[in-house]
Amino acid sequence: MTPTDPREDVFVLAHNYVRREIQDYADVVGDSLELARAAVESERPYLVVAGVDFMAETAAILNPDRTVVHPEPLAQCAMASRLTVAEIESARARYPGVPVVTYVNSSAAVKAVSDICCTSGNAVRVVESLEAPRVIVAPDRNLAAYVAARTGVEVIPVPALGCCPTHQALSPGDLEELICLHPKAEVMVHPETSPAVQAEADFIGSTSAMIRRVQETDATTVIVGTDISILYRMRKLAPNKILVPASHLMSCADMRMITLDLVREAVRTRAPVVRVDPQVAAGARRALERMLAVGRDEMSSGPLRRDLPQAGPGPATVGAGDRPGYLAK
Ligand code: 13P
Ligand code: SF4
Repeated sequence: MTPTDPREDVFVLAHNYVRREIQDYADVVGDSLELARAAVESERPYLVVAGVDFMAETAAILNPDRTVVHPEPLAQCAMASRLTVAEIESARARYPGVPVVTYVNSSAAVKAVSDICCTSGNAVRVVESLEAPRVIVAPDRNLAAYVAARTGVEVIPVPALGCCPTHQALSPGDLEELICLHPKAEVMVHPETSPAVQAEADFIGSTSAMIRRVQETDATTVIVGTDISILYRMRKLAPNKILVPASHLMSCADMRMITLDLVREAVRTRAPVVRVDPQVAAGARRALERMLAVGRDEMSSGPLRRDLPQAGPGPATVGAGDRPGYLAK
């Protein structure tokens, strides 16, 4: 990098779901929790966040003295956009004294009226840290069910039907069909999938937890139940594994809106800048910083459905009757 390189004072952060060429261009690639932490740890004055709106907003809230740029403001998390401050306030009125845990997939205004945030990488620990018998978890009812199944805590999902359309698109039938075709495969899914899908899985975790698990598992074939863009990083880090997408319908339209050209332009122009009302940002920062003080979930495994690891042929081959999966390069 030369002193005139426009990137010298810019740190580029990319989510595991963005296009492969952006992942290759970025300084760091990770899940929501890793990006939030990386944004705080980077010392460069400009942060370009290649991810959906709440990821850039989170970086801006946590770094009020730095300039945060979101290359495509139209890329907005469909689940986050649906939750309003009024819904949180009415839940608080209905369940007085019950703490509100808000998934980072939410607006700054919603975070500001929450007690603490969580991501899919720390939701269990965040809820346990409250030491409360009941908690409100917003806005993903599937993450709420995932937390309820792993803690002794009564979890109230708000809104009752909040979910991610990309993950809700995966049905247990889709998985069962693939399990018939790959009976020895390990099945991993994101906690945003439905409880019925999670019940079919061997491993449930955040996007980065899934990437780590692909590298660590002894299984040769892995069925991957999350946004298909994650397969690029998985293939890079675990080239000997056969990776089978659980459904080609699983592609977040908002993540796909972000292109490398837009990211390069954002680096060059340092725009468009993310702006959050300072009062709202102060409230949201409190909830986010409280979250960052809690560690990551240690274990995101679901109940093991079948005996693993599999015995079988060498890696990166598709056997007779197998569907062509994502093979190692
Ligand atoms: P992670 O925090 O696991 O990366 O998930 C973010 C997300 O939006 C998943 O749909
Ligand atoms: Fe939001 Fe779902 Fe896209 Fe994740 S995959 S950013 S939860 S719409």
